[in-house]
Amino acid sequence: MYWSRSRGKFSIGFFTAMFITWLSLSIARAEEDVTEIVAAEINAKYQSHKENFSVKRLFASRCSWCHQGYGLKQADGPRLAGIPKTKEQVVEQIMYGKTPMPGFRKQLKEWQIEALADYIKALPDVEL
Ligand code: HEC
Repeated sequence: MYWSRSRGKFSIGFFTAMFITWLSLSIARAEEDVTEIVAAEINAKYQSHKENFSVKRLFASRCSWCHQGYGLKQADGPRLAGIPKTKEQVVEQIMYGKTPMPGFRKQLKEWQIEALADYIKALPDVEL
C-alpha cells in the first residue's frame, strides 16, 4: 500500500520533470531559430505551388550571399527583419532590385517572389 502510493508520487514527479525538460528544450530551440518557425508557415502556404517548398532554401540560394542569417543579420545587404517597406514594396525590390542588388524577375517565378516577400514581412524584428 505504502509502496504503491510512493511509486505513484515518484512517477508523477518523474513525468513532471520530463515535461519541464521538454518544455524548456522547446523554448530554447524556438529562441535559437525564429526563422524556422516563420518559414514553416510560409512553406505550408506555398505547398500547392511546389511540394516540399522551402522558402529558406530559396533564400539561401539567391539572397544569402548578401543578406545573412536568413534576413536577421546585416552583411553586404541590410538586415531584412522589421523593415518598414510594405509587402508590395518588398515584391518590387526583389523584382527590380536596387544597385547593387540585382532584380530577380527573370530568374524567379512570381509566386517565389511572393513567398520571399511574405517571409521577410513575417520575420520578427530581432537581430543576430
Ligand atoms: C548582390 C547582393 C544582394 C543580393 C544577392 C540580394 N540583395 Fe537584397 N539588398 C542588397 C542591398 C545592397 C540592398 C540595399 C539597397 C538600397 O536600398 O540601397 C538590398 C535591399 C533589399 C531589400 C530592401 C531592404 C529595405 O530596408 O528596404 C529587400 C526587401 C531585399 N534586399 C531582399 C532581397 C531578397 C529577397 C533577395 C534574394 C532574392 C536579395 N535581396 C538578394 C543586396 C543584395
